[in-house]
Amino acid sequence: MKSYSIALIPGDGIGRDVTAAAWTVLETAAKQSCFSLTGTEFRWSCKFYKDTGRMMPEDGIKTLRGFDAILLGAVGWPAEVPDSVSLHGLLLPIRKAFVQYANIRPHRLLPGVTGPLRAEGFDILCIRENTEGEYSGAGGRVHQGTPDEVAVETSIFTRAGVERILRFGFEQARARRGKLASVTKSNAQKYSMVFWDEITRKLAAEYPDVIVTSYHVDALAARMILQPESLDVVVASNLFGDILTDIGAAIQGGLGYAASANVNPDRSAPSMFEPVHGSAPDIAHLGIANPIATIWSGAMMLEHLGETAAADRIMKAVEATTARGIGTTAGKDKTDTITAAIVAALS
Ligand code: NAD
Ligand code: IPM
Ligand code: MN
Repeated sequence: MKSYSIALIPGDGIGRDVTAAAWTVLETAAKQSCFSLTGTEFRWSCKFYKDTGRMMPEDGIKTLRGFDAILLGAVGWPAEVPDSVSLHGLLLPIRKAFVQYANIRPHRLLPGVTGPLRAEGFDILCIRENTEGEYSGAGGRVHQGTPDEVAVETSIFTRAGVERILRFGFEQARARRGKLASVTKSNAQKYSMVFWDEITRKLAAEYPDVIVTSYHVDALAARMILQPESLDVVVASNLFGDILTDIGAAIQGGLGYAASANVNPDRSAPSMFEPVHGSAPDIAHLGIANPIATIWSGAMMLEHLGETAAADRIMKAVEATTARGIGTTAGKDKTDTITAAIVAALS
């Protein structure tokens, strides 16, 4: 029997509830498909930081490297630990250390879910660069606390980094409906974004079967709301992709539905699967977090591991559940009710 080792990092707030829910669904699906999942839980979180002074142990990355994949809930508890400390101590270093350069985020409506738009027939796959760009972490502050204070934060775009994410986007478009939207702000940012546009044009020559259009991020943001059905694959830099995928989440009915995969396409290190949303301090402890985003992310994990049939079965069970009106209205159904309905639909 095939077996996969999964590192579980529930993190903070609703992260704990939604990873527990996803794990229940994943274990059920694994049993039915005759493979096994061994989960090892790491309680790395803001609580861990308060106890130890670190978001994860010094050898945390080394520990995670041995796993087949990572399932993460959410990181951040801003009332206790500044986000700039917690995210740079756990989530962001994992994405970078394991070269999870492709952040894949699907946006479509599940049956029974009413989005805020008139449009229903959209199916967008956002591919977000996940290791460099605006999130490079290069910068500093001088003359802190004085009127002369200066803060600098430099975006770093490398040819290797831009080329590999665009190539990934072209490949995804080729495997789907053949359309790629490449997102920049090259009318205002004349170095990095012009560079991105140039590489888009260079690669386009290698993919004559893909129709590629370059958009400015402001126009693309509007298009995601006004004509989402006109989009297929969207490829964007780290920060632009972050913002656009919260729009994607919004048009698919809310953050409770938006899944995400941080993929290392070369498989030289584990990939990490997590919902788009955060720890939701405003609803933590109420037991009403929607687990569907994390369950969907779990299905993406199984697909990445090669267990495509089990992944498909999970998505069918999620769709059957929302089609029955369970998990379709924010706050109506408890996390446990939605999870139990999905488990029942699997059987
Ligand atoms: P958030 O995504 O946690 O919450 C935004 C809004 O969406 C809230 O009103 C929340 O209740 C709602 N929401 C989110 N997920 C939901 C779910 N599954 N079901 C129902 N409602 C849901 O964003 P935020 O409030 O800006 O951030 C809170 C904390 O999480 C911060 O520390 C932030 O940095 C962190 N964060 C972490 C991640 C991550 O770990 N990947 C992602 C985003 C934010
Ligand atoms: C996301 C989150 C993170 C990001 C934050 C918490 C650093 O918003 O995964 O979308 O910006 O990448
Ligand atoms: Mn985000």
